[in-house]
Amino acid sequence: MQITIQKTPKSRLSEVDFDNLAFGRSFADHMLVAEYADGEWKSAKIQPYGPLSYQPAMMSIHYGQAIFEGMKAYRSKKGEVLVFRPEENMKRFNKSAVRMCMPEVPEELFLGGLKQLIELDNAWVPEKEGCSLYIRPFMFATDEYVGVSPSTTYKFIIFNCPVGSYYSKPLRVRVETEYIRAAKGGVGFAKNAGNYGGSLYPTVQANKAGYDQIIWTDAATHQYVEEAGTMNLMFIINGALVTAPTGDTILDGVTRKSVIRIAQDWGVEVQERLLSVKELVEGISSGAVTEAFGAGTAAVIAPIQTIGFEGKDYELPARKDSDFSAKVFNEISQIRLGEIADTRGWIYKI
Ligand code: COI
Repeated sequence: MQITIQKTPKSRLSEVDFDNLAFGRSFADHMLVAEYADGEWKSAKIQPYGPLSYQPAMMSIHYGQAIFEGMKAYRSKKGEVLVFRPEENMKRFNKSAVRMCMPEVPEELFLGGLKQLIELDNAWVPEKEGCSLYIRPFMFATDEYVGVSPSTTYKFIIFNCPVGSYYSKPLRVRVETEYIRAAKGGVGFAKNAGNYGGSLYPTVQANKAGYDQIIWTDAATHQYVEEAGTMNLMFIINGALVTAPTGDTILDGVTRKSVIRIAQDWGVEVQERLLSVKELVEGISSGAVTEAFGAGTAAVIAPIQTIGFEGKDYELPARKDSDFSAKVFNEISQIRLGEIADTRGWIYKI
């Protein structure tokens, strides 16, 4: 696929404070924009990052045909740019597309476009420890039509943000037992915009009560732990890694599957199974649950300090360097930075 390139007349690189990067507030100079119409992807172009104009009747803003992904590129000590498992994100993006009646994006556009875009904005990949270039591919319906049906035209865009940490300290999370994120047969496994819109109200309620995030429970009974919305949830219980099985209601996280694979390679028992909130809080009280953490592209490995349930806070033990979550974080960080051998074929070199 031919991708035309229109370079920015003036880079904004010097305006960014790379020593104090927040998450998702700075945007690299260029973006990739492609159009889908007449049953095919066309007019792929790399152009300056900036506003696009659309009609008020554009379908995606009315009926939510909008999906996205999140990936990260890292700068190795040798100066190379390494992207972590982008093929997995491409596969998940296309699964989300199918569920939302949207066209799939071919590899030459998703990965080929990403490669050319990052080559052009190479200088935007941060060097500082703990920082990376967050990559945001997304697609939305663009027909100008008010009827409810799949759009016939779409835009696929990739833009990039140099970022620091998403969470800067161990988290306080609250078990949500009133609202739901996803139900069987729904769209919980897809990375569609509406899943995130729907999570805002209960999350804001939890924030007001002093928690950073919520733990979603299953829609039918509110008894079982699902995910946190910005990340999958993982626990160490009696030495085993325990996480909810993926399915209709849980995002098939790339960091989640990477942690599972590393645990298996290290000989740590992995249990992908239902975990009841009762087992979780009783396990924290008895000492069986020794670690709780989130796993996601933005969050990476985010330790959980406190779990709130029915008005009571359950405190996890203080974090130690010998914890599984600390060790797996180091392993993933070293792979992402090219500091240890990529024995599992996870790195895509730009
Ligand atoms: C990611 O981890 O990349 C996500 O898409 C989560 C988002 C809430 C930042």
